[in-house]
Amino acid sequence: MKTPGQGLTREEILHEMGFAPLWRLRTPLAANPPGAAGQPALAAPGEVTADTSSSGEAAPGAAEAGRAARIAHMDWPELQASVAACRACQLCSERRQAVLGVGDVHADWLFVGEAPGAEEDARGEPFVGPAGKLLDAMLAAIDLRRGDDVYIANAVKCRPPRNRTPEAGEMAACAPYLQRQIALIQPRLIVLLGRAAAQALLGEIGPLGSLRGRSLSFSPPDGSARPIPLVVTYHPAYLLRTLPDKAKAWEDLCRARALMRTLQ
Ligand code: URA
Ligand code: SF4
Repeated sequence: MKTPGQGLTREEILHEMGFAPLWRLRTPLAANPPGAAGQPALAAPGEVTADTSSSGEAAPGAAEAGRAARIAHMDWPELQASVAACRACQLCSERRQAVLGVGDVHADWLFVGEAPGAEEDARGEPFVGPAGKLLDAMLAAIDLRRGDDVYIANAVKCRPPRNRTPEAGEMAACAPYLQRQIALIQPRLIVLLGRAAAQALLGEIGPLGSLRGRSLSFSPPDGSARPIPLVVTYHPAYLLRTLPDKAKAWEDLCRARALMRTLQ
């Protein structure tokens, strides 16, 4: 397929994604309004809020805490070098290279996926394989482009063997990097693509579908910044296998876009 940004109309993009002509919002955009005066919609009582202590397994030992504290003070070049040399979990052994992320480091939008796959491992950039093509089309459908006010990262930075799901310990070991990326970028909104991304910022979760459409936020662990609204949706690789859920992803993206408008 042609890639978005190469003169495709919105209808062509939606057609490429398999949505047209069905992609219409069924619920009003403001169904989940943010708080007053443009404040981010914080989790209401009973809603899930990121508990950063839950993104790890047990309480971290002194060595892990020291490592996390060092990462929490890194600038971008230090972060890049640290990830490239990282051996904090077993995923280091089979990677070709670690993949930190790509895009605008001052972006309003942060998209988080699961882990690099084969093409990402080879090229050093997230979402460049088939799932990435769909992600680009999803971005284009809401007038966004990779690298243009958008940053893309993954829950873990090294490719799991045979693309298996990252284990809890691997996610915990890699979490300080994603947290530092969030602190440096300070995005207005984070879109979590699939289960691993949701777990990375929310801890143990129930069914992914139960998080869709909910008012969620991520509170940076050091409490230095205000909570960042989260939107949870399906992973593009899952959508490639499960066509009917594309319509739900479209709803989620429209909700994210509407939420972002209230945050600017
Ligand atoms: N799937 C992901 O979650 N991330 C990538 O970078 C590629 C595929
Ligand atoms: Fe380090 Fe993360 Fe790679 Fe594990 S996945 S080796 S924690 S960069």
